[in-house]
Amino acid sequence: MDTETTRRKWDRIYREWKAPFPDVATVLSQNEHLLPAGGRALDLACGLGSNALFLARRGFEVDAIDISEAGIEALAHTARMEGLPIHARVGDVMECQWATEHYDVVVVTRFLERTLVRAIVDALRPGGLLFYQTFVKSKSSDYGPSNPRFLLHDNELIRLFDGLLIRYYRDEARAGRPDAGQRDEAFLVGQRPES
Ligand SMILES: C[S@@+](CC[C@H](N)C(=O)[O-])C[C@H]1O[C@@H](n2cnc3c(N)ncnc32)[C@H](O)[C@@H]1O
Repeated sequence: MDTETTRRKWDRIYREWKAPFPDVATVLSQNEHLLPAGGRALDLACGLGSNALFLARRGFEVDAIDISEAGIEALAHTARMEGLPIHARVGDVMECQWATEHYDVVVVTRFLERTLVRAIVDALRPGGLLFYQTFVKSKSSDYGPSNPRFLLHDNELIRLFDGLLIRYYRDEARAGRPDAGQRDEAFLVGQRPES
């Protein structure tokens, strides 16, 4: 799918979105205690921006980027209504740039572009935290993408971010009772070493 098709697909989804904003990502809600008291955060491929809103409501100044104008408009509207410090911008993360060694927190959920790993790590200031969550190849439901390019292999998230100190990782795959637990996605919190 080329960039323009991707943009149109997500614009349509977000324009037709009727439900309330999606829940904040599990990797953030379940690891909220790891967040610093505040600082700067970056939400990449933010969609409607649930993660950006969650972080801004907890005192972070947030930069949020997505290719979908409709997603960014909805996020910017909510941020304005609540007076939250979110800088939401339309951009293709494959082309646009963001500050390096700048963010206390970077969050990427349900988006996988392996060539961005270096730029994501570079965005973190020393000691900064990455919260990452996305779909795995071994997922047990139809939820999420079917294109294998967008699915993680076993342990891949750990390998991709091996320059970070792993503070949390979970990928249950199909072990045990697949009808229970947190299936379909892998979850990682990594911290950039101080030096
Ligand atoms: C599955 S949604 C996830 C949205 C959000 N992170 C979440 O978890 O709710 C994938 C998002 O990636 C965005 N996206 C896809 N390709 C992109 C690109 N090249 N640059 C920026 N955003 C992109 C889409 O517009 C969509 O909002």
